[in-house]
Amino acid sequence: MQQTKVHSFPSADQVAQALNAFLAHASAEAIKQHGRFTVAFSGGSLPATVAKYLKDNKSVDFAKWFVFFSDERCVPLDDPESNFKLVKDELLSHVPIPDSQVIRISEALVSDSKRAAEDYDLQIAKALGCDVVNQPPVFDCILLGIGPDGHTCSLFPGHPEVQERSKWVTFINDSPKPPASRITLTIPVLNRARSVAFVVTGGSKCDTVKAIVDGRDMSLPAAHVAPSEGDLYWFLDDATAKYLTVN
Ligand code: 6PG
Repeated sequence: MQQTKVHSFPSADQVAQALNAFLAHASAEAIKQHGRFTVAFSGGSLPATVAKYLKDNKSVDFAKWFVFFSDERCVPLDDPESNFKLVKDELLSHVPIPDSQVIRISEALVSDSKRAAEDYDLQIAKALGCDVVNQPPVFDCILLGIGPDGHTCSLFPGHPEVQERSKWVTFINDSPKPPASRITLTIPVLNRARSVAFVVTGGSKCDTVKAIVDGRDMSLPAAHVAPSEGDLYWFLDDATAKYLTVN
């Protein structure tokens, strides 16, 4: 892993401002280097925080963005529980990303999470133009949240998906966080990304975040996120970072 950068700000609003600047820079660099920016969004509170200022940033070349999902619930795309719907409402409806560049779960497969995961893997390979049979796909940026139990994406403590190392997209049907059926990127994909950014605010996860950053508790799935060549960022409010040494 290149380096870990812990950024902390007095409020969630200032975290949102920092994410706007971070993604504007990261996307400009990626577009300069290889003509596009490939980014994966998690659900929960992350899309609203990431989009708050970004959606109005006219300096960002959104036409060259390719949007994926770090995890997705196996529900219809207009369901309030859908991460696609969440990101669409918070960001995609406000910026000119071509719909063909938003890579979403196949709605026809949401009743079969195994097939939905297999299909999403193929969609990623097609969109990234890569042979994912032998190597995990490489995203420019993967945006992750963390649950109080240290889950990230839909990788939950004690569940076998955390240990998956040969599939790049897997599925779960007994998610402790409803809804039960989901698809999710796996640890090898997270660790191949050029950058990974955890976004955590609110103060309720300060102990979990401390344990993850310190690498003290590998039972926490987010503790397995250590990009082999990319950079790892933490965008936190001060309440969440209170036990951390901040860069
Ligand atoms: C999901 C998310 C999940 C989320 C965490 C944190 O689809 O449920 O991807 O991994 O990031 O549960 O959610 P909050 O930021 O809302 O606490």
